[in-house]
Amino acid sequence: MRPIVVVNIAMSADGKISTRERRQVRISGEQDFTRVDRLKARCDAVMVGIGTVLADDPSLTVKSEECRHYRRKQGWDDHPVRIVVDSAARTPPGASILNKGDGKRVVAVSKRADALKISELEKKATVIVAGEDEVDLCTLINELGAMGIHRIMVEGGGTLIAGLIEEGLVHEIYTFIGNIIIGGKDAPTFTDGEGFVLESAFPRLNLLEARRLEEGILLHWKVENPFRKGE
Ligand SMILES: NC(=O)c1ccc[n+]([C@@H]2O[C@H](COP(=O)([O-])OP(=O)(O)OC[C@H]3O[C@@H](n4cnc5c(N)ncnc54)[C@H](OP(=O)(O)O)[C@@H]3O)[C@@H](O)[C@H]2O)c1
Repeated sequence: MRPIVVVNIAMSADGKISTRERRQVRISGEQDFTRVDRLKARCDAVMVGIGTVLADDPSLTVKSEECRHYRRKQGWDDHPVRIVVDSAARTPPGASILNKGDGKRVVAVSKRADALKISELEKKATVIVAGEDEVDLCTLINELGAMGIHRIMVEGGGTLIAGLIEEGLVHEIYTFIGNIIIGGKDAPTFTDGEGFVLESAFPRLNLLEARRLEEGILLHWKVENPFRKGE
């Protein structure tokens, strides 16, 4: 079975997820951090693109002891499998995602990745080769399913999320909209990539929940027909 893919992203009131220099910005508050930690704790894996690793150096670990305890009670590792989508194997061996917290890591590369860089990464992660020039996301998701990963949380950035949405691989989206304006036509949004042109191709969403959270709003969407193209 193909894994369920859940996107979680925080954006400003004007729809930006960081500054035009791709500098990380604190968009949400403590209540949203707790919500994200709990969402992460219920997932088998957390995925980001290499752009996010290079810009933010996240560890993607489960932060609260309460959530790690919940995971241990299920017989799971403290932290979900951490996955980087990284065609050219550019993930720095010292990156937090490969080093902070116990547990498994996966780096997904394409056939253009350098063999030496792959063997460096293999010291810390399982390397999956999928795709010629860039990571073939359908192949990757299927391989992750075969590894027993059933629920994946995607934490950004906009290029990876666009790729997953274009392939029809995303099932649910949480967007937290915070009370700041970042601005800038070149500042990333949560779905960058090429964008859709034909209205008939626009992915349609069903709103499951809209809830005030501190000074912002949390929207929970279900994607209609998520397997249109990726099936
Ligand atoms: N506000 C938030 O919640 C939040 C969360 C996360 C990130 N961010 C922000 O997002 C920004 C980073 O986003 P980003 O768009 O630059 O990077 P990204 O989405 O994290 O990573 C994109 C990269 O993934 C690789 N990739 C490989 N195969 C792909 C495929 N099939 N489809 C799409 N991408 C593929 C590509 O690099 P290769 O060609 O080298 O493989 C691509 O450039 C940062 O500024 C960060 O602060 C914000």
